[in-house]
Amino acid sequence: MTNSNSKSSAQYVSVSEAASLINQGALVAFPTETVYGLGADATEARAVKLIFTAKGRPASNPLIVHTNSVERLGEVIQLPATNDQSAIRARVDALLPLWPGPLTIVLPRVLTIAAEVTNGGALVGVRIPAHPIALKLLEHCHHPVAAPSANRSNRVSPTSARHVIDEFNGAIPVVDGGDCALGLESTVIEPRADGVIIHRPGFVTSEQIAALSGPILHLNNTHTAAPVSPGQMTIHYAPTTPCYRLAELPTGISAVHLIGLESDIGPLRDGLPPSWKSQTFPSINEYASQLYRALREVDEAGWAHAIAIVPPVARGLGLAICDRIHRATHR
Ligand code: TXA
Ligand code: MG
Repeated sequence: MTNSNSKSSAQYVSVSEAASLINQGALVAFPTETVYGLGADATEARAVKLIFTAKGRPASNPLIVHTNSVERLGEVIQLPATNDQSAIRARVDALLPLWPGPLTIVLPRVLTIAAEVTNGGALVGVRIPAHPIALKLLEHCHHPVAAPSANRSNRVSPTSARHVIDEFNGAIPVVDGGDCALGLESTVIEPRADGVIIHRPGFVTSEQIAALSGPILHLNNTHTAAPVSPGQMTIHYAPTTPCYRLAELPTGISAVHLIGLESDIGPLRDGLPPSWKSQTFPSINEYASQLYRALREVDEAGWAHAIAIVPPVARGLGLAICDRIHRATHR
């Protein structure tokens, strides 16, 4: 009999076992520096479909494909020739030093990548993650690996192996790499001839992108209107406990868990009733790396009737945090 709460070691696999599973067309979750990914062979339609089924993810939301080196990028995307679309090529070249790292670049896919990865779309996001386990795994996989965050669709991304076990009740084997250092998903960008589109803000900031690669064409975040990237849809990255910005918290909710920067929340604490708890972060980097863990812990504790979040200033890394808060609080 299976016990959904059991954490048997059989759910944990080594890197070489994980590579064999992926090479055989199965799913494996693995750590990256951002969040845990749910990996499958990106060239096998059947394996890719398993990802969508396991997550309950609409086929229209494209997956990111991972590889372990710049030399292998050609297995995923067609790098524009230097003499051809030279402006796009120059932007990509300027961003290459950020890899391995929390950056996903959207470019034309090669036809060996299964059409299911992009729902038939011509463009695919590619990323070289900066995590020794992920790089070793990708090196031992025969093909590039499609990997969305290893959570059920619209839920909070996992930042530890246990989060993955909890998400899928132990049904997905996972390589345990400890806690993710960054804790927020990669920045997703698309280089164009006249500049760069940011589809999802992340650890690599728009300021960094602009400095390296030219003008930002359209920053797709909470301050803009229509989402152009499916993952930018509302109610994403959400905990089960209803989540509000502190300023929008409905009246009459007593058991509230408050989350924010220590410097923002400190002054608020004095006026709070005893049935409030708070989790504060000393820095913007801690806020980013601990936010998802904090949201999960509130769900697990089951005490709070609502989460009240105080967003940081929407600049630099704060922009990515505000983006995730926006979508966790949108109902
Ligand atoms: O940090 C990360 O990016 C993690 C780790 C595992 O690498 N992966 C991740 O994947 O967050 P996922 O599938 O949860 O989010 C991918 C995001 C979605 O918002 C998706 O809509 C967007 O990237 N995306 C993927 N391909 C795209 C494309 N061709 N055009 C526009 N947006 C795309
Ligand atoms: Mg995701």
